[in-house]
Amino acid sequence: MTPPLLPPELAAEAPPRNPLHEALLTRRLIITAGSGGVGKTTTAAALAVEAARLGRRTAVLTIDPARRLANALGLEALTGELRRVDPAHFEAAGLNPQAELWAMMLDTKTTGDQMVRRFAPDAETAQRILDNTYYKYFSTSLSGAQEYMAIEQVRALVEEGGFDIVILDTPPAVHAMDFLEAPDRMLDALDSSAIQVLVKSQRTPDGLAGRLIGKGRGLVLRSLDRMTGGPFLEDLATFLGVFGTILDALKEASGRLQALLRAEDTRFCLVTTPKRSNVDEAMHFRAELASRGFRMGAFVVNRVHWRYPDGVGSDATAQAKALAALLPDADPAAREALLGRMRAGLRAHNAMAARDSRAVDRLAEAAGSAPIRVPLLPLDVRDLAGLHRIGRWLLSAPGG
Ligand SMILES: Nc1ncnc2c1ncn2[C@@H]1O[C@H](COP(=O)(O)OP(=O)(O)OP(=O)(O)O)[C@@H](O)[C@H]1O
Ligand SMILES: [Mg+2]
Repeated sequence: MTPPLLPPELAAEAPPRNPLHEALLTRRLIITAGSGGVGKTTTAAALAVEAARLGRRTAVLTIDPARRLANALGLEALTGELRRVDPAHFEAAGLNPQAELWAMMLDTKTTGDQMVRRFAPDAETAQRILDNTYYKYFSTSLSGAQEYMAIEQVRALVEEGGFDIVILDTPPAVHAMDFLEAPDRMLDALDSSAIQVLVKSQRTPDGLAGRLIGKGRGLVLRSLDRMTGGPFLEDLATFLGVFGTILDALKEASGRLQALLRAEDTRFCLVTTPKRSNVDEAMHFRAELASRGFRMGAFVVNRVHWRYPDGVGSDATAQAKALAALLPDADPAAREALLGRMRAGLRAHNAMAARDSRAVDRLAEAAGSAPIRVPLLPLDVRDLAGLHRIGRWLLSAPGG
């Protein structure tokens, strides 16, 4: 594919719908994913702005957004609290969304404790679990409780939040699978033979815990109490008893989360840059997502260098004249040197554009369709106007 021409803004006739545009209009959950620093959070926020502009009541859940982006979304220092993006921010950006946009920093610091509180039948049971010595031991090895609870927050928003669409940002790819697979891992853990044996045995009238405390309490076990310096067995019995009560709720919820991430209404937006290592990771990540049954919605190549039109940078005479007009008093040698630097800069830029274009081609070939390209903007994206600028690219036709 030949690299597209500058200036991109001039090519802004109503573009045909692309897969992301379609997804924003029809899906309920869009998840941005990709390697570290490629623009996942920016893409999630930009998509959210466009979804609200298209008239869908939108919530965007970001993870560790850059401070200025957080400010633009009205998320100053707030964690785990959903807030409406101030309409005045939209107005300042010259935007008039058709529906409300809400934003939240996803709280990935929630703990196993919150999980117990969420799934225990009542506060008292929750407290009994939390106070239990075994729970304290168990909770440190309860892998993925944080990610699990983050996804539970997402589910609550999608299913009970009254939103038309939820846009979810994810941690960098190395941790993204941990995040996305948290429900699977939780189910595996709950199904693990150790837990099953313990809990099942507890559910029989003459359960393991009962037997341990009751008749079978032998010398060895009594000495365990002494060694651990506490009511070893009573605690174990309590733990098995009360933990069993949240087990079914937790399993059922895990199944729901697993289904949500793979639902027909859920789409992944995989983000990369044209950098070779990012492209390789993105292709690998795409295969991983597919193999786990997650649905791809679109491939975005962010921070693409756009090629300057032929002629710009090569017509030295015209440039020299333009420069002469700008620098009427500069001596000719200085002007010539400046011109040389400009030409070198443009050549280098166009070389990067050609390299980026090859990366896009490579992705298109691997993915079977042209990815959506977003140019490298000269400024950091720090307000709603900047997000909308990115958003317009995200919704314009691939290859356009
Ligand atoms: N198209 C673009 N042009 C210019 N700057 C961009 C563009 N896209 C993103 N950026 C900037 O790049 C930086 C990283 O973007 P962002 O935080 O969205 O990446 P990320 O993938 O979420 O990173 P992390 O993996 O750390 O979460 C930000 O400063 C953002 O403003
Ligand atoms: Mg991010």
